[in-house]
Amino acid sequence: MAFDKQQFEDILNDFTIDSDELREIAGAFRYDLKQGLKDPDLSSMRMLKSYIGLPTRKETGEYLALDLRIRLDGDGKFEVLKKVAKPLVVPGKYNYIAADATAEQMFGFIADLVEEAVEGDHTKKYFLGHTFSFPSEQTDLYNAKLIIWTKEFATPGVEGKVVNDLLKDALHKKGLDNVEPTAVINDTVAVQLAAAYKHDNVNIGCIYATGHNTCYLEPYADKAQEAMILNLESGGFNRLTPGRFDIELDKVSEKPGEQRLEKMVSGRYMGELFGMALAELFDEKGKNYGFTSIDMSAIMDDEDPQHPAIIKLVAEKTGHTLDAADADKVQDLVLRIVNRSARLVAASFVGILWQLQGAEQHLAPQTIAVDGSVYEKMPHAKENLMKGLSELLGEDAAQVTTVLENGGSGLGAAIAAAVAASRR
Ligand code: GLC
Repeated sequence: MAFDKQQFEDILNDFTIDSDELREIAGAFRYDLKQGLKDPDLSSMRMLKSYIGLPTRKETGEYLALDLRIRLDGDGKFEVLKKVAKPLVVPGKYNYIAADATAEQMFGFIADLVEEAVEGDHTKKYFLGHTFSFPSEQTDLYNAKLIIWTKEFATPGVEGKVVNDLLKDALHKKGLDNVEPTAVINDTVAVQLAAAYKHDNVNIGCIYATGHNTCYLEPYADKAQEAMILNLESGGFNRLTPGRFDIELDKVSEKPGEQRLEKMVSGRYMGELFGMALAELFDEKGKNYGFTSIDMSAIMDDEDPQHPAIIKLVAEKTGHTLDAADADKVQDLVLRIVNRSARLVAASFVGILWQLQGAEQHLAPQTIAVDGSVYEKMPHAKENLMKGLSELLGEDAAQVTTVLENGGSGLGAAIAAAVAASRR
C-alpha cells in the first residue's frame, strides 16, 4: 500500500509554518510576555519569579546540587567532586513519576542520592541547591511550591507543596540534617546561571529537551525592582494556532489544555505527533506506535536512498513494510515536524529579544544558553533554529550567539546555593 499523495501533502502542510506566520507568532509571544509583566493572569505564560539575578562570578565554595557535589572556583571555573545521577524511572524496576508512586517514595529516593553524593557524611554542613524542572511559585529562593506537574509526571502529593519542605523531611528521615536545602531553581534558570558564570550577555536560558521552557533576565528598566530572572514557563504559551494533530495529542495527554507550545515542540511529544500522522497514512487512526524523538533522529540520519534503517524501524513499530519512496516521505514528515519545532522555539526567542531591544534601533549582543537533548542531539534542530532566528531578525541575527550549556542543572544549582548562602 503506497501513501495517498494528497493525504500526505495535507499532513505535511499541517506541520508547516511559513515566514509570515512565524513573524506573527514571535509578535504574539512578545505581546504575551508584555501582558504577563503587567499581570501574569493576562498572559498564557506563568512568568514565575526566580528571586535570583545573574551571578557575579565571584561565587566560590563547595555546594550540593542535589546528587552532585560541586566546588565553585569563581570566574566560570568549577569542579564536580562527586556525581551520582540516577534516573527517577528504570522501566521494569521502579517508577517514581507515576500516578501510583508517592511523594514520600520520590523524595526518599532523592534523599538517598544526596546521601551518596556526600558519601554518607552526616556531620559536615552543606548548603544544597535544587534544580526542579517544573512550574513553581516562589516567594524567595528557598520557598518554591509546585503549581502543577508537566511532561506527564503524575506523582500524587507534590502539587501545591513546597518542594524544599518535602526534601528537608526526607533528608531528616535519613539523618541528613547536616544538609540544608537553601535554593530551588527551574532548570532554565540553572542553564542561564551556569552559562552566565562563564560567558557575557547571557540574558536568556532555555531547555529544549523532553520538555521545553525559556527564562530571561528581566531588567525592570523602570528600576521598580532589581533585575531578576523570570521563568516564563513558555511551554504554556498558547497564542498560536495548533494543527489538528496538536489538538488530538492535547486531548489524550495527562493535562489537556496545558503546555500547548511544549506539546508542539518538545522531545516528549514530537514522536507522538509523528506516530499520529503516520497512523493516518496507514489508515489506522488512533493507533499509538510508541515512536520517540530518538527514533525520529534515526529516521533523519538514514541517508541511504533505499532507506533500509527507516524501513526496518517503521516495520518494527507499526508492522508495515514501506517501499523506498514512502520511506522517503516518512523522512520528510519527520523533518517537517522537527523543523516546525525549531522554528517555534526561534520565534519565542525573537519575542524575548524584541522585548529586550525595546525602542533601540539595533539589538545589543545576546548570548542564548540552551540545554537539552533535542538541541544537542536531534539532527537539524539547531540548524533550523538558527535559520528561524535569521529569518526573523535579519542582520541583527549576527548579534545573537547560542551556547550549549549541558552541565547547567548542577552548576546552576550550586551557584544558586552560593547566592543563598551569601544572603545570610
Ligand atoms: C516543562 C516544565 C518547565 C521546565 C521544562 C523543561 O515545561 O514545566 O518548568 O523548565 O519542562 O524541563
